[in-house]
Amino acid sequence: MTTLLLTLAGVTALLLATGYWTIRRRYTAAAVAGIGARAGAPLPACDLGGQLMAAVGTPPKTGGGATGSAAGGSGGPVTGGGGPAKTPAPKRKTGGGPTRRSFLRTAWLAVTGISLAGFGGASLGFLWPNLAGGFGSELDVDDESTILDYIRSERSPFPYPAGRMWITTYDPALDPEGVYAEVTDGGTAPLMALYQRCVHLGCRVPFNVGPQRFQCPCHGSNYTFWGEYLLGPAPRGLDRFPLRIQDGRVLVNTAQVVTGPSRGTVLYEEA
Ligand code: FES
Repeated sequence: MTTLLLTLAGVTALLLATGYWTIRRRYTAAAVAGIGARAGAPLPACDLGGQLMAAVGTPPKTGGGATGSAAGGSGGPVTGGGGPAKTPAPKRKTGGGPTRRSFLRTAWLAVTGISLAGFGGASLGFLWPNLAGGFGSELDVDDESTILDYIRSERSPFPYPAGRMWITTYDPALDPEGVYAEVTDGGTAPLMALYQRCVHLGCRVPFNVGPQRFQCPCHGSNYTFWGEYLLGPAPRGLDRFPLRIQDGRVLVNTAQVVTGPSRGTVLYEEA
């Protein structure tokens, strides 16, 4: 949409500029023609066109008039024997302003630049993380009570696909060393947010209710209910996001990925 608007603006600007340039050229041509038409008449004392002609020089006369002026030196109006003096056609202005070609080239470059800038801006906007509620920002997932009820009743972590995460339980009594303090608001939250991306090669890891494990379908890595490493080629437990509770709402900051626990760290495993 942005690209379209900028392109339309550029084309409109080009059309307006072209129209202005055309009118200006016609006006200038008409003014020059008017000066040329008056050049054959005697110069009035306060005629602006006449003053301009006087400034640029009296046009050459043809016929006997010129000769008479040179010979007689009377200084009066020149009248030749061959009739009224002929005025040369006004010359087209070539200096002092842009030519049509240079003007159109400049305008075309301006329109092209505006269009490219719009396209680049739209592309960046598309690629940039959506910081207004999408993945890459802090997400308001749901009520704390709703999530806890789901986990207890389904015997499964709470899925939240929009945030690419699972919400699982956390009990600070099982974590006296505060291994997960960074992702549980200093150990005060009863929940943890696990990044659903397998730390082996990045497959999405589903939860299997039967064995109560996360089991990666790609190469068979297994993780506990808390996303801790159990077996397979994965180098560690699942990564996670910082989570906090505010006014009963679960807020997860998906802009920060916290590296999962190392192999051998198993604080909790659902039977
Ligand atoms: S991607 Fe999960 S085990 Fe390889």
